[in-house]
Amino acid sequence: MCHLADHFRWASSVRFCPLDTAIGKTLVRFEDVALRYGAGPEVLGGVSFHLAPGSFHFMIGASGAGKSSLLSMIYLARRPSGGHLHIFERDVTTLSRHETAMMRRKIGVVFQDFRLLDHLTALENVALPLKISGQRDEKVRRHVAELLAWVGLAEHLDSYPPTLSGGQKQRVAIARAVVGRPSLLIADEPTGNVDDRMAVRLLYLFEELNKLGTTIVIATHNESLVARFNHPVVRLGNGGVRIDRRQPGADARPGKGSAA
Ligand SMILES: Nc1ncnc2c1ncn2[C@@H]1O[C@H](COP(=O)(O)OP(=O)(O)OP(=O)(O)O)[C@@H](O)[C@H]1O
Ligand SMILES: [Mg+2]
Repeated sequence: MCHLADHFRWASSVRFCPLDTAIGKTLVRFEDVALRYGAGPEVLGGVSFHLAPGSFHFMIGASGAGKSSLLSMIYLARRPSGGHLHIFERDVTTLSRHETAMMRRKIGVVFQDFRLLDHLTALENVALPLKISGQRDEKVRRHVAELLAWVGLAEHLDSYPPTLSGGQKQRVAIARAVVGRPSLLIADEPTGNVDDRMAVRLLYLFEELNKLGTTIVIATHNESLVARFNHPVVRLGNGGVRIDRRQPGADARPGKGSAA
């Protein structure tokens, strides 16, 4: 099996997702952002913070605090109902459908509910983003198999998602999100279904990707995992947000009803 960094170097060489890490740029910028579902109450309000290219943040908040909702705006599935949101320096409200689709290609997402395609094997699920970008089958298969082996799924390359455990599905979803070395990786509770040892291993995978330039945001309930890794923490509470342990890659102003 190749070293993990070699794998990502390969992924970079196929130029599926060119990294966008120019100094001084802001990858994600929330300015007084609010979000409500339909005519319901605001689930987020006064959210202001930005993420610099190459930064690594955890996101913590009680169940229902709005973590998945906030992440869904970053991966362009939902538009803010108030304020301004810039992703890759573009105001999300000005994006055409085509531009939205192109921008999504630079974002890897690990969904809280995995969202694997049940009629494709684990290997085919992970290979899909690379195949869409036109990579050769044989090369894709080899590298996807190496990545799946790295997350402990060497025995399950040809398994279909309905036959996998929750933790196995989660690891397939993670492999799919990182395989193209995206500019931005959004992971929603990516270690919720695995044991502590595997959770730490998966965090190393994210750190490896981060060292190569990917900006990372991981939502989690796992405070002990967060304590083990030295990255700033976006804390969500009462509809607002604050960032703990300010570092060069992060800046924040407390929002309305902030937990600060
Ligand atoms: N599709 C939806 N329609 C209406 N309300 C929603 C929808 N999705 C989420 N909400 C509401 O938004 C709030 C925040 O939910 P969200 O899923 O973002 O929380 P979370 O922090 O991710 O929680 P968890 O830790 O349980 O995953 C909740 O009050 C929830 O009921
Ligand atoms: Mg959630």
